[in-house]
Amino acid sequence: MKSVETGTTVKVLVVDDEENILRAISRLLMDEDLDVMTATSGEEALRILGSNRDVGLIVSDQRMPGLTGVDFLEKAREIAPDTIRIMLTGYADVNAAIDAINRGGAYRYVAKPWKDEELVQIIREAAQRFCLIQENRRLSEMLRQKNEELRNWNAQLEFFVQKQTREIQKNNEELQLLNKRLKQNFQNSIIAFSGLIELRDSAVRNHSRNVAEVSRKAAESLGLPGAEIETITVASLLHDIGKIGIPDVLLRKELGGMSPEELKEYRLHPVRGQAAIDSIEDLREAGILIRHHHESYDGSGFPDRLRGDRIPLGSRIIGMADAVDKAIGSLYGDNAIQVALKSVKDGLGSRFDPALYRHIKASAEETYAEVMIKTDVVELELHPDNLQAGMIISRDVYSGTGLLLLSKGLRLNEKNIQAIRRYYRIDPSRSGVFVMVKR
Ligand SMILES: [Fe+2]
Ligand SMILES: [Fe+2]
Repeated sequence: MKSVETGTTVKVLVVDDEENILRAISRLLMDEDLDVMTATSGEEALRILGSNRDVGLIVSDQRMPGLTGVDFLEKAREIAPDTIRIMLTGYADVNAAIDAINRGGAYRYVAKPWKDEELVQIIREAAQRFCLIQENRRLSEMLRQKNEELRNWNAQLEFFVQKQTREIQKNNEELQLLNKRLKQNFQNSIIAFSGLIELRDSAVRNHSRNVAEVSRKAAESLGLPGAEIETITVASLLHDIGKIGIPDVLLRKELGGMSPEELKEYRLHPVRGQAAIDSIEDLREAGILIRHHHESYDGSGFPDRLRGDRIPLGSRIIGMADAVDKAIGSLYGDNAIQVALKSVKDGLGSRFDPALYRHIKASAEETYAEVMIKTDVVELELHPDNLQAGMIISRDVYSGTGLLLLSKGLRLNEKNIQAIRRYYRIDPSRSGVFVMVKR
């Protein structure tokens, strides 16, 4: 029998003071794969054990001169604790057998005279047991080592993972920063673009930004998703970018004063606007909203004569915000917003979506309250000779005798300026005419 641990044959030490018994047992084990050693006394056996600590099995007689079998096993146990010990004892020697088990840590005891088959079987089993224990120990040790390795690996892995995580986090932060900067640049470019059209005509200064502000607030109050609000804002800023191709003369005309050809030219600007930004992928959604900002709710608008909900929601919002800002125009004074909103309200159901009105109204009131403060509108008292067309009357105008000539809020034209000048010659008032002008 081979020990798995060492790969060597299991050593068996047989101890008996009677040589013929030693010979008999040796003969008995001749065919077994065991390395048999013999000793004729406990003392001799201890010496052998001293230089052969890998002995797997001890078979010892109890009755021997000098050391008894029990005493010998007890000492052998101290020298080689892993060795399997078997005691040979006479029938009468029950106490010795018990001692052998208790003190000597014997695995079994075998009564003399033994049956050969039985003794061989017991020794075979004991040798197997020794091998099993050794194997078990080897595996346990291997397991312990593997566990130790695993623990080290784990510790290293955790270190690397933490290190990687820190690096990824750092990269992420840098990316986010870059992204933010890119987005900011993009937004700045759009604002710059939107300013291009307004450079040509100071009368429409801030038009795109006002429309964007009202549209954005309305989209927010409708509870639209963030991405959609952004698209609507961008589209508002660029909604009239297609007007860049329209001649200045035409741009300054009121819609009603355009010839059919001019109207046709003017009506191209939503499609031109969409085409202008179509090559920028991120702006394509906004391009669709730009295309439809002049569609009417009743289907009478342009360019595609879309009707009702077929018109993109963003386009319906921008269309209304656009109309509010156009109506406000250069109106100043407390009721300018309300006058502008009234004109939009009149178009509900025909030009505009009635469901959006309250959102546009609230957004416009909030936006223009801010705009009015920002634009620094001032009231001036002017002599009638200094009045100009387009100025807004900020206080009712009376003649010297108290006749109401013009109401507050009216926009002056050449005709009523001439009228005031006439009245001021005939029936002069003590004060000038109060008008609102931008500082
Ligand atoms: Fe437009
Ligand atoms: Fe516009």
